[in-house]
Amino acid sequence: MVGCQTSQKKNMVASEIVSGEIWNDTDGNPINAHGGGILYHEGTYYWYGEYKIGKTVLPEWATWECFRTDVSGVSCYSSRDLSTWKFEGLVLPAVKNDTLHDLHPSQVLERPKVVYNTTTKKFVMWMHIDSPDYLKAAAGVAVSDSPVGPFTYLGSFRPNNAMSRDQTVFVDDNGKAYHFYSSEDNKTMYISELTSDYLKPNGHFTRNFIGMSREAPAVFKYNGKYYLLSSGCTGWDPNQAELAVADSIMGPWTIIGNPCVGKDADKTFYAQSTFVLPVHGMNNAYIAMFDRWKKTNLQDSRYIWLPLSIANDGSITIPWRERWKLDEVFK
Ligand code: DGJ
Repeated sequence: MVGCQTSQKKNMVASEIVSGEIWNDTDGNPINAHGGGILYHEGTYYWYGEYKIGKTVLPEWATWECFRTDVSGVSCYSSRDLSTWKFEGLVLPAVKNDTLHDLHPSQVLERPKVVYNTTTKKFVMWMHIDSPDYLKAAAGVAVSDSPVGPFTYLGSFRPNNAMSRDQTVFVDDNGKAYHFYSSEDNKTMYISELTSDYLKPNGHFTRNFIGMSREAPAVFKYNGKYYLLSSGCTGWDPNQAELAVADSIMGPWTIIGNPCVGKDADKTFYAQSTFVLPVHGMNNAYIAMFDRWKKTNLQDSRYIWLPLSIANDGSITIPWRERWKLDEVFK
């Protein structure tokens, strides 16, 4: 993020968010947290994501554009103002000495999301775990006593015996947690209630958007309703986003349409959803987070953060903004 000034307002600095630029951490290094999500915990935001370092390769056997970097692990950055981000390290590092391990550099680890369980007092990470050909299609789970790790990897499995690729986890106001994942060859979105410790599916799940091929789920709650922002399914290439709404988190879901507005809105501003962050302590203030993938140089993929625009009638759009200031938008 750039343009950080000192004027403090509601715990936010007057900093500009300039989407698509390189955003540096407090050490001056580019923030490396792709396909990420943010957890707010006790006054601090923790941003977790895929730490993509090194060469992007297309395996020689590839029959589709499964560009990848070696797995390095899950990074974490902390911030109190959503503007200055301190690198907390790799909270779930790759496992380099076991070629069969899910976290071996040769495998795939994507879209990590962390939630906090107030009963067990554990931080629980869910992530997409895959083989380089993406045929494993599993979910991995890790757990930690601290938001900045280290996380202990518990293993991977196919939740509800179904394929699991792009995914997120959402904790409702009543403390129940739900795993959203693209299943059945990415054609159908599963919503799966988790056990009270958030470590496993509890067996209660629904199939949604059947045959509609939605990926990159990002869930938020506004005014008592649940919203799901997602992308289409075109590999690393951008496509049109879609917003859906439901009265019950398990569905049925009603498609609203493309929430993006402005230049390149039909291509999600050349990006793909990853998370929608409620700004703590503010009413109806949300930041939609996207990745602008660079498929041939994934390490240099950029971030697009845009505030949700909520009209008086409650309708939600995501207008393009070249640059915006946190404290001007969220007053
Ligand atoms: C689209 C997904 O959203 C990404 O997380 C990644 O899995 C790519 N596909 C791989 O092509």
